[in-house]
Amino acid sequence: MNVFEFSIIINITLQNNIFSGLFVGQNLLTLKEVDSTNNFLKNLLTNSKPVPEGTVIMAETQYAGRGQQNNKWHAEPGKNLTFSLLLQPHFLDVTHQFDLNRAISMGVYDTLCTLLGNDLKIKWPNDIYYGDKKLGGMLIENLLQGSRIKNSIIGIGLNINQDQFPDDAVNATSVKQILHKDYALIDILADICNNIEGWYLKLKAGKTDLLRDAYLSKLYWLNEEKRFKTAGQEFSGVITGVKHNGLLVVKHQDTETTYNLKEIEFLNKQP
Ligand code: BTN
Repeated sequence: MNVFEFSIIINITLQNNIFSGLFVGQNLLTLKEVDSTNNFLKNLLTNSKPVPEGTVIMAETQYAGRGQQNNKWHAEPGKNLTFSLLLQPHFLDVTHQFDLNRAISMGVYDTLCTLLGNDLKIKWPNDIYYGDKKLGGMLIENLLQGSRIKNSIIGIGLNINQDQFPDDAVNATSVKQILHKDYALIDILADICNNIEGWYLKLKAGKTDLLRDAYLSKLYWLNEEKRFKTAGQEFSGVITGVKHNGLLVVKHQDTETTYNLKEIEFLNKQP
């Protein structure tokens, strides 16, 4: 998709009062169809005039949606939220970039928690889980300038009104499957934008401890004995925390070990 094809494919959604924040979501572009909203936003940043911080690109259909770890992201057209948000956290050193993941996760969490209650959790690093099923996830791509984050492309995919999933997506669920109701995507998007802005401004104001505590308190499997896999080996362990830099801390036989995303797998089925 060429960004200059803009006028054919984009409706510029006029500002309306449900986006009550200062900047997140104030510039909202909705696309009928795109490969990936993250790709689109990345191209926009290289090909055109400055893009205002807080810009949101939302797609009805993504035909090549991308997930974490080179996975594909599938979503039934028109039924789910698939969007990317531009933030420019120049204040954030790259060593603290996981605090941005925390702020985004909390913004999404707070929105869905008002609908779904306390069975909602954040699965490290930033998946949204209801019980043991995945409602959505995030793909955050940071473009650096020296040791600072210049642009952060925050891609968010949430299953909202889709009521059936392919057989191989055994782990997926949606708001519709849980509450048996349809929701207006734009209302949920507006709420997410407002909540993300709130957490982002806290991060900017240096309220890092508050953010880290909030994120940890919502963490899936925190302080529970569970099964994991690392380097081909299964083991029982307990998540005891997340390091400032985002590494997961798991305790196994009285020893705490830290893991990055590629190094550890959560095994949902008990042996
Ligand atoms: C994951 O859980 O693996 C992350 C999924 C992220 C999907 C979203 S949908 C909008 C944005 N555009 C993409 O191509 N991916 C993200």
